[in-house]
Amino acid sequence: MNAAQDRPRQAAHRGAQHGGYPVSPTTPNTHFYEPRLGHGLPHDPFNAIVGPRPIGWISSCAPDGTANLAPYSFFNAFNYTPPIIGFASIEAKDTLRNVRASGEFVWNLATRPLAEAMNASSASVPPEVDEFALAGLDRLPSRLVRPPRVARSPVHFECRVSQIVQLQSAQGVAVDTWLVLGEVVAVHIDRALLPGGVYDTAAAQPILRGGGAADYFSIGKEQLFRMKRPR
Ligand SMILES: Cc1cc2nc3c(=O)[nH]c(=O)nc-3n(C[C@H](O)[C@H](O)[C@H](O)COP(=O)(O)O)c2cc1C
Repeated sequence: MNAAQDRPRQAAHRGAQHGGYPVSPTTPNTHFYEPRLGHGLPHDPFNAIVGPRPIGWISSCAPDGTANLAPYSFFNAFNYTPPIIGFASIEAKDTLRNVRASGEFVWNLATRPLAEAMNASSASVPPEVDEFALAGLDRLPSRLVRPPRVARSPVHFECRVSQIVQLQSAQGVAVDTWLVLGEVVAVHIDRALLPGGVYDTAAAQPILRGGGAADYFSIGKEQLFRMKRPR
């Protein structure tokens, strides 16, 4: 919609009420949209705005023991004690089926040297394909769970599934997306990332997902700044 077309809408909004709240006028400098009606842009900006996101590089095992590996950037940490991480499977994918059946998964830190292998592991392949082999990655056994770890990844969390939640809209309509939450029951950290016993985030060279078809970010010491919380 161009500015001229938008004018009557702005006028209609001025002073209007919406659910008891005044409707904020649309300004020429703001792109406003309601997602349910479409974003009106060449690319959906949503995941570029909520970005860059850490990557949940998740290994799991099928009931027959076939290893599975895939990246999930709808991923984050949600609790300290016990530590809980989670990722969202948009549609029921192999990882979701495996963690449902086994109750276990491993998170592997995706680093800059492993970026291409991480990407290769996202290929849409049948469940019988082992993405460790597909991506040319060696594996290490885990200590407490069955899924293997990516050997070249410097940090691993062994996890037991704590909840699997199917998402729903604000209207309560079920969405074809599942949030998998898992308690971190074992942690492996390359000692090179623990100078003086303090984990060095930048030295690990984590990669993060931006938006669009191909945007990623890597971080280094240049991005570090410190700010203490108010007392
Ligand atoms: C960086 C990156 C992030 C991704 N994030 C997600 C995600 O958050 N949720 C999702 O369902 N798929 C995501 N995908 C796509 C899955 O990795 C892809 O569908 C994969 O084949 C799933 O593997 P699986 O069926 O073995 O679980 C992502 C892909 C890439 C490359």
